[in-house]
Amino acid sequence: MIPRLMLGAAVLLLPGCRQQHIQSAVHPAGPAAAEIAWLWWLMFFVLGAVSLLVFVLFAIAIRRRPPRDHRQPPLGERFIVIGGIVLPSIVLLVLLLFSVQSSGVLLLPERDLTIEITGHLWWWEVRYPEQEIHTANEIHIPVGRPVLLELTSADVIHSFWVPNLAGKLDMIPGQKNRLSLQADKPGIYRGQCAEYCGLQHALMALVVVALPPAEFDDWLAAKKRPVPEPANAQVEQGRRVFFAAACDNCHAVRGTKAAGRIGPDLTHIGSRVTLGAGILANNRGNLAGWIANPQPLKPGNRMPPSYLPAGDLLALVNYLETLE
Ligand code: CUA
Repeated sequence: MIPRLMLGAAVLLLPGCRQQHIQSAVHPAGPAAAEIAWLWWLMFFVLGAVSLLVFVLFAIAIRRRPPRDHRQPPLGERFIVIGGIVLPSIVLLVLLLFSVQSSGVLLLPERDLTIEITGHLWWWEVRYPEQEIHTANEIHIPVGRPVLLELTSADVIHSFWVPNLAGKLDMIPGQKNRLSLQADKPGIYRGQCAEYCGLQHALMALVVVALPPAEFDDWLAAKKRPVPEPANAQVEQGRRVFFAAACDNCHAVRGTKAAGRIGPDLTHIGSRVTLGAGILANNRGNLAGWIANPQPLKPGNRMPPSYLPAGDLLALVNYLETLE
């Protein structure tokens, strides 16, 4: 019986070993997240110990026989004062002091890079104002350098949360909230909108790609290069379809007359890892399916079906794939 139970427990625990923890507050990858994780474990153990103590006292109280002399109170006044007032006050005060100290650490004093992030229903607009780079749903940052995120929203309240790197912060229309963040090791970290914002709140994801500084500089240089001119007739046809189908009403492609700001900037769509704010892998099939009709994939999003003939759709996908 016991070996079987152990086997069952091992099977249940196995997925935990395979996890890469790309979205986990207890696997910090930066100083802000490490501070939060430390505070989380401190609270877990202190409050766990307090709960245990309460349960033990509760069990003792249940098992205890009533005293023969009912005029005697079962517990002394001192026990009530110490256990009910002094002890909780000390525990709460200590936790409060640690929390206040942590909030100071969360604001990194300096910054190397500013990134503006705007929440939309249901995707993330990402701008590097000093580098004039405009992208969506994927944030590239250099490892080991403090980054300042300026968060706001274009519609309703969203909340920015990449648990491996920092705490969560609301994105409020008409207001700029600032979040400091730094990644200590290269990797891909997943984030998630953490404030209910409507139908597709659960599918409003993003990734932060932390690159070694030299690779990050290469990335910046690549993103600043102008979009390539169509290399063949089919890509050329794809670009014509892009404008004929009025994709530019909502989307921008730097270096062309497309300047729509309702949907994500497509200047670098070909190099993104995901489509639809983290819900689909970015490959030809998914891209074609998304353009044909994104509604079954993410119901309620603002992009309508395109009703393009197959040849035009293929050409359009080929064109978009050249936008890296
Ligand atoms: Cu945006 Cu929830």
